[in-house]
Amino acid sequence: MRSFLGRDILSLKDFERNEFFRIFEVAKELEPIARNRRNVELLKEKTLVTAFYQPSTRTRLAHEAAMIRLGGQVTGFSDAKMTRAGDWYQESIKDTVKMLEYYGDVIVMRHFRQGAPHEAAKWASVPIINGGDGWGEHPTQILTDLYTVLTEKGRLDGLKWLAVGDMRMRTMHSLAYGLTQFDCPITFVSPPDMALTEEFKAEISQYSLDYKEVDHVEKAIGDADVILVEPVVQPDYTKSRQEAGEHGLTPSNYKITRELLEKKAKPDAILLHSLPRMDEIPPDVDITRWSRYWQEAFNGVVMRMALLALVLGAME
Ligand code: CP
Repeated sequence: MRSFLGRDILSLKDFERNEFFRIFEVAKELEPIARNRRNVELLKEKTLVTAFYQPSTRTRLAHEAAMIRLGGQVTGFSDAKMTRAGDWYQESIKDTVKMLEYYGDVIVMRHFRQGAPHEAAKWASVPIINGGDGWGEHPTQILTDLYTVLTEKGRLDGLKWLAVGDMRMRTMHSLAYGLTQFDCPITFVSPPDMALTEEFKAEISQYSLDYKEVDHVEKAIGDADVILVEPVVQPDYTKSRQEAGEHGLTPSNYKITRELLEKKAKPDAILLHSLPRMDEIPPDVDITRWSRYWQEAFNGVVMRMALLALVLGAME
């Protein structure tokens, strides 16, 4: 297995099966620290730099919380408008990262441009963690989701997945790449104009992902062990920011209601949503046996603790 020390976490396409399991082992080992709300000294001499060119609640704060739990320091920006990258100068990724690498030991970057963290990784002498790049990927979120499934179901292989939402989403790409390493058939449900591209389908077929597409959640929910949902009503992820405005409602094809779960879902299926949500999962689903998104949120901190500990060499 390749070492994680100094490694960039840019894409789940890079990950081998045994590397997933090593990350999950480390997460399990570190989990009691977060569970017991303790802070330890594992990374006490290290600093995380956050470089967020797009809004975030969970990804940035979960990385920051993870670093603090492990005794490290945090610096960075959550609004590029207040940096030279977001003002008149439009400072380049290269010039920005060549500064940030001196301010800390690892950088987590979210950007509206697909491939921006990969470009940062070309120039930085410290590891870059991709916190979401345009429509590209969101590897730490899907590592969190796979870990949540493992902890909730006790296994990954043999489980059937249903993914509902906008297939242009970065999470969907990381999910498809991640599942190529497991025996997990998946059904995708999306509006036709948000479907997986032919190019992406050719790529995941090459990696032997067992997938199909259907047009309504009702046609697939009964078989699913894991239901992962993303909005179909959402902003353009290639923009740095979009203000709230008029928007439509989620059509029933892409909506998981309490009634649908009660009528059609397996009693032991689990429902994931990385959030934020619109109306695709109404709040009355929160208190049902299927919902696991609050566990997923907790695991988001645990997973970032594991990744920081590994790339900074505190765990092998
Ligand atoms: N799931 C997720 O990436 O949330 P944020 O956009 O709040 O980081």
